[in-house]
Amino acid sequence: MNATGSMGLAVAVRPCCRLIAAQILPRCPHQHGRRIAALPFFPRCSRGRRHFSRCPCPLPPRRSAAAWVRAAVAPARDGAAVSDPRRLSTSVGPGPVPGGDKDFGRIFVQGLAAVKPLVIDSGEQPPAVEGEKAKKEAVEEEEDEDRSEVAKARLQSESEKEAWRLLKNAVVTYCGSPVGTLAAIDPAVELLNYDQVFIRDFVPSALAFLLKGEMEIVRNFLLHTLHLQSWEKTVDCYSPGQGLMPASFKVRSVAQGSNGEVEEFLDPDFGESAIGRVAPVDSGLWWIILLRAYGKISGDYALQERIDVQTGIKLILNLCLSDGFDMFPTLLVTDGSCMIDRRMGIHGHPLEIQALFYCALRCSREMIVASDGSKNVLRAINNRLSALSFHIREYYWADMKKVNEIYRYKTEEYSQDAINKFNIYPEQIPGWLVDWIPEKGGYFIGNLQPAHMDFRFFSLGNLWAIISSLATPKQAEGILDLIEDKWDDLVGNMPLKICYPALENEEWRITTGSDPKNTPWSYHNGGSWPTLLWQFTLACIKMGRPESARKAIAIAENHLSNDRWPEYYDTPTGRFIGKQSRLYQTWTIAGFLASKLLLENPELASILTFEEDLELLEGCACSLAKSPRIKCSRRAAKSHIFV
Ligand code: GLC
Repeated sequence: MNATGSMGLAVAVRPCCRLIAAQILPRCPHQHGRRIAALPFFPRCSRGRRHFSRCPCPLPPRRSAAAWVRAAVAPARDGAAVSDPRRLSTSVGPGPVPGGDKDFGRIFVQGLAAVKPLVIDSGEQPPAVEGEKAKKEAVEEEEDEDRSEVAKARLQSESEKEAWRLLKNAVVTYCGSPVGTLAAIDPAVELLNYDQVFIRDFVPSALAFLLKGEMEIVRNFLLHTLHLQSWEKTVDCYSPGQGLMPASFKVRSVAQGSNGEVEEFLDPDFGESAIGRVAPVDSGLWWIILLRAYGKISGDYALQERIDVQTGIKLILNLCLSDGFDMFPTLLVTDGSCMIDRRMGIHGHPLEIQALFYCALRCSREMIVASDGSKNVLRAINNRLSALSFHIREYYWADMKKVNEIYRYKTEEYSQDAINKFNIYPEQIPGWLVDWIPEKGGYFIGNLQPAHMDFRFFSLGNLWAIISSLATPKQAEGILDLIEDKWDDLVGNMPLKICYPALENEEWRITTGSDPKNTPWSYHNGGSWPTLLWQFTLACIKMGRPESARKAIAIAENHLSNDRWPEYYDTPTGRFIGKQSRLYQTWTIAGFLASKLLLENPELASILTFEEDLELLEGCACSLAKSPRIKCSRRAAKSHIFV
């Protein structure tokens, strides 16, 4: 967790006039009969002061009954969106909400409806003749089994019931409407910024709500975070790009004047208060992924077609697709720019960011409305998708065969046809990998840079490579095979390891800068994070292997409620609750619920997954064919990208 605090930095945040943000969500002078004072625009820059987003939100009108059910998994409108630009809405405010008539109370009872009542046994048996006795015993045995199944189901429902209650408790409202969930509600420890709504943490909450038919909170979240995106943010005298989404935001209340008026503010953190001042690169990518999922399950495509929302997508893409000094199609970022938000040696081109980037590009391609104005961005997306998938499939993949190849690499090759393109010295193959790499299966390595391969296994990146079809079908199978094979290392007593193995001794000292929170087998350094469970479940469902997910969920379910829903676990097998782990961590709770719901409704996994896109592969093959330097690459394309 990157703690916030008044670090003495000059931070000025103000609504941006460049965008139409001011029109996106109008101010609300009256909320629930309370008058909210209208304030003038903030000054451009004021040292040492922090400004907040004002309450802009009329309560969303509610629409009747379960439109979402009809629209559930509405077929994606293929390729670039084809909608008529005239249908674009410039309307302000959150607007009608599918499923908005459901209240949270209803969410809790729904899960219980399916539980069969316990069969009450009176204990008295009628006399039975000899021949019937055996039959009767067999029936009784079966009934006993049934009863214990029912009891188990009831027990499970208890932890789900508790989880729903906790999730509801974590809901944050802004001007009377739900807009997100707090990161954790652990009364025992210092809050730091766990009392904020984190963009990445909200995704499993959103998924749980969506799968239960509760659309409103997700819609509000999408619109309010969009509003925050357009703000100017500065660290000292420098401003990052406009499309940056905050890591988190907080709803603050401030008393106005003497007559008890209260004004609510949204106060975003773009990393300008975070420890290490890391930019949350993943936030915008998650936002795009969630926007598509919301559209697919609610059928409310009008939201993604709104001009302000289209502009939001493009601003994020502008940041990701702009030209730089890069030689690779992967996104270049600093250390700690994603779920692992502290120094962990994941600067450069970490897999997690690449997988989310790929997924967000595929989502955007589906959502951006085709027009003359969007032609270029759609072309740029297609090109990047082709190049990115080729690069990751070819150069990040590690299996027995590939490691053996690297082991025999020649170095210092100077030519277009070099086999060892990135000049990897075979000595880099870590000792642990030699024994660990299984005969069957493989995985994507954590990072690739000139003369540097980070061979650690990072779960989130590998899972999203499966979910988004960044991996070939064969590679996706291979990753799940490896997880099965290395179950004790990656799942153990609590699914799932954030990365494997941990950095120890000198390596820990140098790579983390002696971080006392990221000690070996703790937190980001080889800790086990239950929130990864929903992503594992998605990947398993997509690959038709729900049994693995079921096994992992059962392990988690045995501990989570008793352990009070910790943020993470420590030790190589995940046996202890993390040293500094929060309890009642919301994305642990929501991830568990979302996993359960996904298993019950596997067809709904498609709101987040993608299938292989052959056109993209052809795109890549064509550009390789045009190149005079195709010898090696074309061979690679055949062997990897088309499988
Ligand atoms: C930790 C995690 C980060 C998460 C935050 C809030 O910092 O590393 O990914 O968003 O806590 O739960």
